[in-house]
Amino acid sequence: MAPRSPAARRRAALAALLGLHISIAFALEVSVGKTNTVMALNGSNVLLPCIFTTCIGFQDLVFTWYFNSTEMIYHGKIKSKASEPSLVGRNPRVEFVGSTTGKDNNISIVLSEVDFSDAGKYTCHVKNPKEKNAQHSASIFLTVVHKMVETDNTLTLIIVSVVGGVIGFLVFFMLVKKVILFIIKKMQDRKKECLVSSSGNDNTENGLAGSKADQKAAPKA
Ligand SMILES: *[C@@H]1O[C@H](CO)[C@@H](O)[C@H](O)[C@H]1NC(C)=O
Ligand SMILES: *[C@@H]1O[C@H](CO)[C@@H](O)[C@H](O)[C@H]1NC(C)=O
Ligand SMILES: *[C@@H]1O[C@H](CO)[C@@H](O)[C@H](O)[C@H]1NC(C)=O
Repeated sequence: MAPRSPAARRRAALAALLGLHISIAFALEVSVGKTNTVMALNGSNVLLPCIFTTCIGFQDLVFTWYFNSTEMIYHGKIKSKASEPSLVGRNPRVEFVGSTTGKDNNISIVLSEVDFSDAGKYTCHVKNPKEKNAQHSASIFLTVVHKMVETDNTLTLIIVSVVGGVIGFLVFFMLVKKVILFIIKKMQDRKKECLVSSSGNDNTENGLAGSKADQKAAPKA
């Protein structure tokens, strides 16, 4: 903000006191949308969104995109609501993709082939001469990431195989336990069967062959 005269400062103080600052602050609004961060893969193209709204319209409006607050990467001018912006200057990797004749005053750009040095703050700044040169800006933060799809997949694969292995082992262990328990139960059942049959034999043979039957049953088990 440029230094203001004492009179202007008094006016601003009075306006603030009367709650008028709200209407002044909302005259020109610049927004990058709901989230102020965007993530892009190294080598991809990324959309940097920005729209602005004015209450009383605009004339010869100037908008500028800055990287890390200092480096100008796009500079455009819009004569009126009836026209699309004209280019003043730009970084060759920046493309204007917005439109200012539609409902939104869309001044979004696309930055192509991003790499890690492009990570940082992107500020969209608007100045409207029709509103006594009112200015407003909004920033979006770009993060550049590796082609992490594959890394992610490998990690997922490792996790899945480890978890799968553990589950597989548990299932196998439970199966083996079941089989062993089944065999033990079968053996016990057979033992019981043998005892039953031997006692049956006992009954039929009137107890005389009891000791014989027990001897017969023993090798079976
Ligand atoms: C980033 O992308 C560029 C071009 O696509 C490539 O040359 C570079 O090796 C990539 N860097 C990393 C760390 O993946
Ligand atoms: C602005 O324009 C770009 C490119 O056409 C589009 O992707 C984006 O959704 C627009 N943003 C809004 C808020 O309309
Ligand atoms: C831009 O700013 C970010 C932090 O906001 C910093 O990490 C990065 O190195 C800066 N990039 C350049 C090229 O100055």
